[in-house]
Amino acid sequence: MRKPMIAGNWKMYKTAGQAVFIVQDLAELIKDVKDVEVIVCPSYIALKSVSTVIEMDKLNMGLGAQNVYWEEEGAFTGEVSPMMLKDLRVDYVIVGHSERRHIFGETNEMVNKKLKAVLAHDMKPILCVGETKEEREEERTDEVIKEQLFGNLAEVSLRDIRKVVIAYEPVWAIGTGLTASSEDANDIIQNIRALIESLYGSEVAEDIRILYGGSVKPENITELMEEQEIDGALVGGASLDAQSFAKIVKYQSAEE
Ligand code: 13P
Repeated sequence: MRKPMIAGNWKMYKTAGQAVFIVQDLAELIKDVKDVEVIVCPSYIALKSVSTVIEMDKLNMGLGAQNVYWEEEGAFTGEVSPMMLKDLRVDYVIVGHSERRHIFGETNEMVNKKLKAVLAHDMKPILCVGETKEEREEERTDEVIKEQLFGNLAEVSLRDIRKVVIAYEPVWAIGTGLTASSEDANDIIQNIRALIESLYGSEVAEDIRILYGGSVKPENITELMEEQEIDGALVGGASLDAQSFAKIVKYQSAEE
């Protein structure tokens, strides 16, 4: 059984103080949730404060970073290393987010280096893949996702792949209010699972968690989670407010 995961990507929002407030509010709102893994990914600046509050208050959530550099240390002004993240008790690191790929020019090869560095430091990558609007219109979605997956997972062993979470985030659905229909997202995630099977076999494909991301909200989470292949969500905007994020985490009780 794949444990559902709901991860909040706070992008470049929230100061450290604001992040701590949300985490405390969120923890209270979701304290009875047991069977969903909840992850918060604040900015680098807020990681230490959030890590401390999670540890001190024994909060029922994990900590994620939004990015990393692949080198251990060195003259890389402005970058943060996997060793530094591990030191802050970071559990997950988002790699290959479309904003990193498209705004900051990260290539598949760079994403691969980051992903391997995360694994080498005993943290778990959340690998984002997804097509742009143009690629979708040109019916190149499958090809683009295959290229991303194969490139990003190069040299990742059968042992390490078990620590990877994949997030399918169609670029045209991020922050736009447009969501892939739940059937569409399910179909593409099924294809991703088949690609993982071709690389690592059926047992890994059956176990690997694949999330959907792109304008996920309390209003559409239940429908998405009803789909067979969708194991959770990577949430941007709607995770910035504790109430709305908690509603997403509690998707199972949304219809009660
Ligand atoms: P939105 O939920 O704001 O569309 O962002 C999705 C996303 O990019 C999560 O990583």
